This record gives sequence, structure tokens and C-alpha cells, in this order.
Amino acid sequence: MHLGIIMDGNGRWAVQRRLPRAFGHKRGASRVTEIVKICPDLNVKTLTLYAFSTENWQRAAHEVASLMKLFRGYLQNKFLELVENNVKVVFLGNSKPIDRDIVSQMKKLEKATRNNDGLTLNIALNYSGRDEIIRVSKKIASDHKSEILKIEDINDNLFQKYLDTKNQTDPDLIIRTAGNQRISNFLLWQIAYSELYFTETNWPDFTTKELVQILEECKHRERTYGTTDKNEKLSNSFEV
Ligand code: IPE
Ligand code: IPE
Ligand code: MG
Repeated sequence: MHLGIIMDGNGRWAVQRRLPRAFGHKRGASRVTEIVKICPDLNVKTLTLYAFSTENWQRAAHEVASLMKLFRGYLQNKFLELVENNVKVVFLGNSKPIDRDIVSQMKKLEKATRNNDGLTLNIALNYSGRDEIIRVSKKIASDHKSEILKIEDINDNLFQKYLDTKNQTDPDLIIRTAGNQRISNFLLWQIAYSELYFTETNWPDFTTKELVQILEECKHRERTYGTTDKNEKLSNSFEV
């Protein structure tokens, strides 16, 4: 299955403890390591983590700086672990505004894990669903202009091949932590039929135990993709 997580509540976690917000982000990053490790055991084949949205640049400069420092550290410290654990890392989003040294680490990690066939880990960094759809539209328009494709060729299937998640299945389940029940520009195209789950737990407190409970609860949900066919749901439900 493909699981997406909107990791929210780092700031609130820190504020509740009278700590700087950066502490919440740091603690959140250690949760990432834990969740990535457990995914293969839970039958999760693809994990998409929303790490930084295109809107998050509007936060205070010191908070953006602390997040970038954290990404830099994560890429350095987890490089070998991800390679050795057979994780295939894919970055979603527009890397252009990100510091060059971080982008070069991202590219290096994608290249080093390209042939891994364990967990696919999508990290959405400077990502938003609308931005992705606009980038796709521009690329399709430009390929049309270069006569690579005809207007008649544009359909769901072709559009999918231009997305940052090209050739991946759509998420079966999206979990958002910290209580807000919204999507905040995450994977807009891909979540057309995803199940949604909202938990009150702030991301720095989110445990593998809670993840197991959520997957257990959600596997009983029925997805019929607009049909009324009871058999349809069986082939499309996800197994834990
Ligand atoms: C999520 O936690 C992390 C990012 C968006 C980068 P927040 O920082 O949004 O935490 P809250 O929502 O302020 O508690
Ligand atoms: C969504 O969280 C983005 C990430 C988790 C990276 P935000 O905290 O930025 O979203 P809003 O502001 O609550 O919509
Ligand atoms: Mg938030």
C-alpha cells in the first residue's frame, strides 16, 4: 500500500513545553526515522512524507533556517542507512529555491538508492499539489509545442506520467497528525480516492504503535471508486 503522512504539530508540541519551535521539528525528525524503519513490516510499499510546503517559506526566517539545517543533517546522517536498508528515495516538489548543497545531497541520495526495491520513500520538500499540477501543465504544453504529444493524447494516464509521483500507485491512505482536518496542498491529484485519517497526536508524539492501530482500523474501510460494486472493494482494500 501507499501511505501519505502530513506531519503536523511540531510547533504546538514545542510551545506546549515552552521550548523553541525548532525543538519540535528536531523531535519530529527522529519520528521520521522510526516510521521509515517500520513501514516494510507493515506492508507499506510507498511512504510519502510532507516535509515542507511551498507556503512554509512564509514562516519566520529563523524557523525556515532551522528546518533547512535539519534537512541538511538528515540527508548527511541517514544517507548510508537508507542505502543499506534498500529504501528508494524520491523527492517531490520544486528543488530550485532550495540551497544548492542540499539539492546536491538530494540528487546524490536519489541516485544512490535508484535501484533499491524495498520501501519507496517520497519526501515532499518545497512541494504543493497546485505547484505540481502547474509544473505538469507547463511541461505538457511545452511537449505539445515541440510536437511530442497531441491534445488527444492528454488523459489521466498521460498526466500521471508527468507528476513527481510518476509510475507510482496513488495513496491508499493519508494520515494528518495534530488535529486539523485539512489537506494543506498535499498531493491534490493523487488523493482523488484516498482514505483520510486525522489524529489529535502531534507529530513528535506519533509512535509506530499508533500507526499500527490506524492501519488496522482503516483496512476495514471500503472503497468503491464511484461504483456500488461490493466486489470492487475487495480487490481495492489494503492489507496490513
Ligand atoms: C509541521 O509542524 C512541520 C512543518 C510544517 C514543516 P508545524 O510547524 O506546522 O507545527 P504547528 O502546526 O505549528 O503545531
Ligand atoms: C502542512 O502543514 C505542511 C507540512 C506538514 C509540511 P502546515 O502546518 O504548514 O499547514 P497549515 O498551515 O496548518 O495549513
Ligand atoms: Mg502546522
